[in-house]
Amino acid sequence: MWTIPLLARGDFSEWRDAARALASAGISPREVDWRIKGDIELFEASTMPELPPPDAAAAPLVVPQAFLPLAEAVVCHTEPGRFHLLYRLLWRLQSDRRLLELTADKDVAWARLLAKNVARDSHKMTAFVRFKEIAGEAEGRRRFFAWFEPTHFVVARTAPFFRRRFADMDWIIATPKGTASWDGESLIADMRPGENPGHGDPTDALWRTYYASIFNPARLKTKAMQAEMPKKYWRNLPEASLIPELIANAEANVRAMAERAASDPPTFHYRLQEAAQAMPPANFAEAGTLEGLREEARRCTRCPLHCTATQTVFGEGRETATMMMVGEQPGDHEDLAGRPFVGPAGKVLDGVLKEAGLARETLYLTNAVKHFKYQPRGKRRIHEKPNRGEIDHCRWWLTKEIEFVKPKIIVALGATAFYALTGDRQPLSHVRSRPISMRDAVMEDNVVLYPTIHPSFLLRLPDEAERRRQRALFLEDIRDVGHLAKGFLG
Ligand code: URA
Repeated sequence: MWTIPLLARGDFSEWRDAARALASAGISPREVDWRIKGDIELFEASTMPELPPPDAAAAPLVVPQAFLPLAEAVVCHTEPGRFHLLYRLLWRLQSDRRLLELTADKDVAWARLLAKNVARDSHKMTAFVRFKEIAGEAEGRRRFFAWFEPTHFVVARTAPFFRRRFADMDWIIATPKGTASWDGESLIADMRPGENPGHGDPTDALWRTYYASIFNPARLKTKAMQAEMPKKYWRNLPEASLIPELIANAEANVRAMAERAASDPPTFHYRLQEAAQAMPPANFAEAGTLEGLREEARRCTRCPLHCTATQTVFGEGRETATMMMVGEQPGDHEDLAGRPFVGPAGKVLDGVLKEAGLARETLYLTNAVKHFKYQPRGKRRIHEKPNRGEIDHCRWWLTKEIEFVKPKIIVALGATAFYALTGDRQPLSHVRSRPISMRDAVMEDNVVLYPTIHPSFLLRLPDEAERRRQRALFLEDIRDVGHLAKGFLG
């Protein structure tokens, strides 16, 4: 009998290497005892036996393509018999290449069920991880921590989802079944159990507001809700504390909703805005600060875009910046993060700024329009250009930002920003790279307006050579404005 001790924390290579050696040596599943040593110290004490050399006369191991993803998922399950099951499948596949097609086969059906559980657990993780901001912003990147309790070892396989979704922030997701972290460059998965420092933060309140806003008592199906959001996850969901009360009041709320039917807001965003409106008034008028202005903007309802956007994305950066950059409108990432230029276009801009020797923190970055405009397409939100009316309504905020920051140079990134700043609808190609005195425009005089392309223009160019050429021109423009700014600073 061969006893094979495994750490069994979802690392596929651990099982694969042992299984390969055993099968190549002709050791049948009945001769193998797969043991799980979840505890690292115990594991270190019981090491892998020296496996026999491969049988030179045996045919090389072959498995159908479908086996690999199936086995990779199954090893992430917590079922203790999973390694034995996989080895039995591997063994049987050597004489029956089409085994996996037999969906009624007991081993195949079991493996598929385990893989399905793992996929479901991974999906739950993408839905129920709640980040909390932690102190210590590093190089302009905010830092977040999340504690989550998955059923299976899904951290490593789910981490790439969070890297794609939250590429612009540093984060750690700790779980009792491993930890994943991302710092903008490396995604690291550590199989050892993580720790929960257990603290709440203001984001918890935001989650609660959000949840209360999207909760629809008329659609309440308690059983389905618990299947979708199983109770075991509630402990780490800030919004879960609301659930009992929301359920208890559901019936009365449905009646009230029916009475108000005609005026019900169309989406949760509208109600979220209402929650923002209900906040104590900001001291903008009194204090006259940019911070006050930002607070005011959170409840902006000047145009209908606030109904569908998640939140107002106000400008950010140095309040006394010599240079202000104005984009078009927040995109998908910005809408969720609540900050300008943190998505793909922001990455392009960051790269060019760096090459031009301009530090992002010394600038003030904002947009002509402060709410994300999009068309829903399936689960995706496709960017849509703001129209003239929307830009005209939002100009009020832009003008105020300029009044507060008093920049010497304003860079218009793209035609929308140029229109917002000048009221002029000329094609960008007619005005690009030519500094204009703002005396003739809507803003104060002695400010230089510098029109250039929007960084997302580069992302849309299909031809690599053209993209490189346009990027070089954009970099030249940004270097130009950098020189102008130095002139102002003396
Ligand atoms: N595009 C913009 O114009 N602004 C952003 O903030 C992001 C993308």
